[in-house]
Amino acid sequence: MTSPAIHPSILNADQAHLAEELARIAGADGLHVDVMDNHFVPNQFGGPSLVQTVLAHTELPVDAHLMIEQADRWAPQYAEMGCAIVTAHVEATAAPFRLVNELHRLGAGAGLALRPATPLSTITSVLGQIDLLLLMTVEPGFGGQSFIEAMLPKIAEARHLVSSAGLELRIQVDGGVTAQTIERAAEAGADVFVAGSAVYRADEALTAITELRARATAATALSC
Ligand code: DX5
Ligand code: ZN
Repeated sequence: MTSPAIHPSILNADQAHLAEELARIAGADGLHVDVMDNHFVPNQFGGPSLVQTVLAHTELPVDAHLMIEQADRWAPQYAEMGCAIVTAHVEATAAPFRLVNELHRLGAGAGLALRPATPLSTITSVLGQIDLLLLMTVEPGFGGQSFIEAMLPKIAEARHLVSSAGLELRIQVDGGVTAQTIERAAEAGADVFVAGSAVYRADEALTAITELRARATAATALSC
């Protein structure tokens, strides 16, 4: 398992001061940008122009989390723009093998995301092709929700699948990740942690990132 990475989500950042908000998290390991189309989830956020602005204002690797319908059609443009990883929801992808190949051909890592109630069996056949498995730990659509504890066995099962197949992909959790929940998620086997409100509602974003990373690292060491 690789060392824990903290990817702040800018969903809860002050969008009117985006450059400053991105500067606050320069010490993170990556940056998570949510894209919502008001169909796949009951909210609208982001899109190609926001992602392009973010890419122009950060040195961090950007992972784009696409909460949109017809991901096969709309995801490749985020790879072309220069996102390090493009993550589509398996529920919104008609041809995941083709999409993953296309994202790789365009030079990006490929991620697949699962809503909380979507079973791991939906992605086991494609697990060997992807770079990131995103397990939602809230119902997607909004920041600031509570971590769904019932996802812990799913994270552990995903880690078991990945380890027993000898794969290198990372397991990302998104939703309700805070100083109170990150240790359990890390113990279960997650190694990339999206944190929106835990970082952006903190007085010192960098301190929050450092604390989250330290907690995840300690919990990972205990579970190994
Ligand atoms: C929710 C988004 C998350 C969100 C997380 O659907 O995918 O990335 O920003 O926010 P917090 O960390 O506040 O739960
Ligand atoms: Zn997200």
